Amino acid sequence: MMRRKLVVGNWKMHGSTAGNRVLLEKIVNGVRDYRNADYVVCVPYPYLYQAQSLLQGSNVMWGAQNLCATKDGALTGAVSPAMLVDFGCTHVLVGHSERRLQFHETDDTAAARFHAAQEAGLIPILCMGESREERDSDWTEFIVGRQLDSVMRRYGVEVLRRAVLAYEPLWAVGSDNPATPDQAEEVHQFIRNRIARCDPEIARQVRILYGGSLTAANAAAMFAMPNVDGGLVGRASIKAEEFIGICRAAN
Ligand code: 13P
Repeated sequence: MMRRKLVVGNWKMHGSTAGNRVLLEKIVNGVRDYRNADYVVCVPYPYLYQAQSLLQGSNVMWGAQNLCATKDGALTGAVSPAMLVDFGCTHVLVGHSERRLQFHETDDTAAARFHAAQEAGLIPILCMGESREERDSDWTEFIVGRQLDSVMRRYGVEVLRRAVLAYEPLWAVGSDNPATPDQAEEVHQFIRNRIARCDPEIARQVRILYGGSLTAANAAAMFAMPNVDGGLVGRASIKAEEFIGICRAAN
């Protein structure tokens, strides 16, 4: 089965209205003719309206980097799933390692956000990955399996029909040390096999992205792996040429 490739840019806490305009216009023009893959940019909340204004009608979708699991209420500083839908978001990151490490996010809270996103009609992108120490201790499958199970156990394998998975080894995120294509493929295969034990058909169709030091130069080799269905891109997503190069590799 041919899964359509997906490239997701995660701007993290970068941007300004002036800079975003230039970047988004370049991306729209750069990927206009790349019709064989899908593209998303996940921008900081304050720029969702700008992303909507500049991207609607293009073949680039937009989303957020987090969301609150609660519908509404007295939750100072939080952003609800419906608000993201209101601004035209299609996707939202859930459980990114930076949320887990710096904002005390757990498997439980990530699973709750995943579910809330789907209930609102958004496609959650569940981020998983092990630390350097965990890999060195041979715990990669244990950690990634636990992160995947946190959603599958609670909500069932069916929810993976309308979701994206992302393998982002922590040691490759924000470093200059991407996983090798073989290292990524091995974990992606593990993830797909684990899903296949519950439902082979869902396992075949779910897209599993790789993230961690992806660049225009290394993306093609990564995307050539049979179980790597695209990329989740940090630093290279805020440089137009780099991001467009990664999208070209996916296309
Ligand atoms: P880098 O591409 O900057 O390593 O970041 C990856 C990432 O965390 C995307 O979510």
